[in-house]
Amino acid sequence: MIGRDLLCIDDLTREEIGTILETAEHMREVAARDVKKVPTLRGRTIVNLFFEASTRTATSFEIAGKRLSADVVNFSTRSSSLSKAESILDTARTIDAMDPDAVVVRHNVAGVPKRIADVLEVPVINAGDGAHAHPTQALLDLFTVQKEKGRIDGLTVAIVGDIAHSRVARSNIAGFQKMGAEVRVAAPPTMIPAGVEALGVKAYPSVREALDGVDVVMMLRIQLERFAGALFPSIREYSATFGLDREKLRYARDDAIVMHPGPVNRGVELSHDLADRRPSVILDQVRNGVALRMAVLYLFSGRPPGQSALDGNSGGD
Ligand code: NCD
Repeated sequence: MIGRDLLCIDDLTREEIGTILETAEHMREVAARDVKKVPTLRGRTIVNLFFEASTRTATSFEIAGKRLSADVVNFSTRSSSLSKAESILDTARTIDAMDPDAVVVRHNVAGVPKRIADVLEVPVINAGDGAHAHPTQALLDLFTVQKEKGRIDGLTVAIVGDIAHSRVARSNIAGFQKMGAEVRVAAPPTMIPAGVEALGVKAYPSVREALDGVDVVMMLRIQLERFAGALFPSIREYSATFGLDREKLRYARDDAIVMHPGPVNRGVELSHDLADRRPSVILDQVRNGVALRMAVLYLFSGRPPGQSALDGNSGGD
């Protein structure tokens, strides 16, 4: 994977996803150490280019880079329209001229990371573009399920919420299917993308049917800032029908886990109680996200041949 871009899950084979998850498992050990740092990417520079607000993803890429001893530079700015595409490419070229070893990009317009990747020599990692893709979120979700269930193949996963506008949903549908899981989606009709069945998922108009016998329930955030009032009659009604609480969770398997990429609208898509306690694994997703992003930075931005991922116990600077 060295030198390649990671723009969407389809860039990866099933075997490569397996390698990323295995590497993430090793990376998790680093977080348990006294000195949470390995010299793997020492002397390398990673630029985080965030054109859209982010808490978890930006922080987690930054911590991941630093734990690998890379020099991490964060560049965040707001840019809300494609008309700014030219200046985005200028920014990308400027950053390229500073010889980074990898560039992590988030933008609210689908396709921007690809355009940047087209002009940059170094690997570009997509940290979320519009409603298109969020591959490292899907990978950290796969990693979390693998750790919880010991496998992904043969499981059934229900994704509930605004599927149509969710890059998390798209990438997770692709990722879980590639790894052998069955994926279902549930949402009001306005939130189910046209032609979703062509992706190989079954769409359900009710949570009850969608959750029947599933191993994993993945809740999505209602993007209140964009869609409130437009896609469903009221938040109260949405919450009553598609919000998850322990009552509705009973339709899933007894040992089902609940996931959410964050940030959670408590009391809307997820009850307060479920947001905080098992079987929800929301903070495990965050924790696993750091290890997973360490694995991605390591595998894509390269290292000298023969050097192991965890060479040395501490080091760095
Ligand atoms: C998601 C995102 O930004 O795509 N969050 C995340 O990366 N953890 C989901 C969301 O904002 O709803």
